[in-house]
Parts: sequence; structure tokens; C-alpha cells
Amino acid sequence: MTEPLLRLEGVVKDYGDEVVTRVLHGVDLVIARGEFVALEGRSGSGKSTLLNILGLLDRATAGEIWLEGRRVSDLDEAALTELRARSLGFIFQFHHLISALSAVENVMMPLVARAGRVRRGMRERGLAALNDVGLGDRADENTRRLSGGQQQRVAIARALVGDPPLILADEPTGNLDSTTADEVFALLRRASRDKGVAVLMVTHDRELARRCDRTVTLLDGRIAGATGPTREATSPLAG
Ligand SMILES: Nc1ncnc2c1ncn2[C@@H]1O[C@H](COP(=O)(O)OP(=O)(O)O)[C@@H](O)[C@H]1O
Ligand SMILES: [Mg+2]
Repeated sequence: MTEPLLRLEGVVKDYGDEVVTRVLHGVDLVIARGEFVALEGRSGSGKSTLLNILGLLDRATAGEIWLEGRRVSDLDEAALTELRARSLGFIFQFHHLISALSAVENVMMPLVARAGRVRRGMRERGLAALNDVGLGDRADENTRRLSGGQQQRVAIARALVGDPPLILADEPTGNLDSTTADEVFALLRRASRDKGVAVLMVTHDRELARRCDRTVTLLDGRIAGATGPTREATSPLAG
């Protein structure tokens, strides 16, 4: 069997030194290549904490994570930074674009960060990614001049530009009206299909979650129900 894109076993996260609060209580989760997974759960259930750990921005207190077959706990900070730059794209509720830069300059940022400097071809790749989200004609626009939905599309282009196998999206449509949220979601869904990129998307929108391949629910720091794409294979209806 081939290694899944992402595998978590017993991931625990505690916050605090004096008073320890356990936020994740042993999370098991498998995400296959190309899967589009919704992550649901009420406020405070640990969704952002889990995404930060998966994003290699924070360390788990206990448990193991494998990303593209590499065990994260074996890696030092430099190796984590490299793995993050190569394997992950990020989209947040607020676009986190750099307002002093143009749309295409923002999209190029992950490439620049990965290479340590601007290289030939990066602008072209940024333009192609902007084209994919329908904003090729706004490439040199300052991002402050774009609408909320357009800014979030720039953020999607930025997440996709380096062709990472996994995108982590923390309520990417949470700050948009429902029509714009629908459009932005559809764009992300299509990009994921076209490029075979897996997405783990936190959302409170039941309608959007239904349109994902699978929904994972966090309940008080634990995954409720099935934890991997093997669910269909073990279903009695699968025959
Ligand atoms: N840096 C932190 N230090 C202490 N507690 C935290 C920290 N970050 C989050 N928490 C707590 O962890 C719990 C889960 O938070 P979070 O992961 O943000 O949940 P969600 O994204 O599902 O709303 C909450 O009770 C929150 O107060
Ligand atoms: Mg959150």
C-alpha cells in the first residue's frame, strides 16, 4: 500500500505550563492525495490548533505525524521549514496579503521564500496561478484595490503557486458573503481537482462541507466518527 499524503496518530496538544489545558486528546487522521476534506467542529474544539500543528507551525505535545512519508518529529527546524515550503499551502480567513505589494508579487511570495530570492520565471508562474483564479488581468493591481472575494482568490493563487500536495485552509470563506463564499469555494474545489491537490478546509458552512469528499468533525479535541478515507472500503454497502 502506498503511503498516504498525511497520517496522524494519537496527536495530543497541551497549552500552558503551570495550568495545563489539553486541547487535542489523541487525534488520528489520514488524508489521501487529492482528497478534499471539510473539518467541522464548534468554536474552541481545537480546529485551528490542529491546523497549526499540521502546518508545521507548532509542535504536538505527543503523537506522530507523517507528511509525504516523513515523520515530522524526526525533523529539526530547518527541515521543517523546508518541508513546509515544499509540501504545504495556506489559506486563512483573512487573506493576509501584503498590501504594499501587487497581486502577482503576493502570489510569488512562497516561491521567493522557498528559493531565498527572486528568480527568473517566478513572475510567470505567479501570473499563471492568477490566471487560474481568473485574475490574470489584475496582476499589477495593488491588493488593497481588490474586493474581498478577489483578495481571497489571490490568496488561493498564492497557496497553489508552488504546487504543494496539501493546502490547509482555516475558514477561507468565513469572512465573505454567501454568494462570494460559494464562488471562492468552487474555485478552490476546481483547482484541487485539476491539480490533484488535497485540501483540509475548516468551515462552519454545512452546505460547503456537503460538497467536499468527506467531513471530519472535531468534538472536544477528538475526532468523531471515521478518521480516514478507508471508510468507504469498510462500509457494508461497499460490498
Ligand atoms: N496559544 C494558546 N494558548 C492557550 N490556549 C490556547 C491557545 N490557542 C488556543 N487555545 C485554546 O485551545 C482551545 C482550542 O482553540 P482553537 O484551536 O483555536 O479552536 P477552534 O479553532 O476550533 O475554534 C480553546 O479553548 C482555546 O482557548
Ligand atoms: Mg479556529
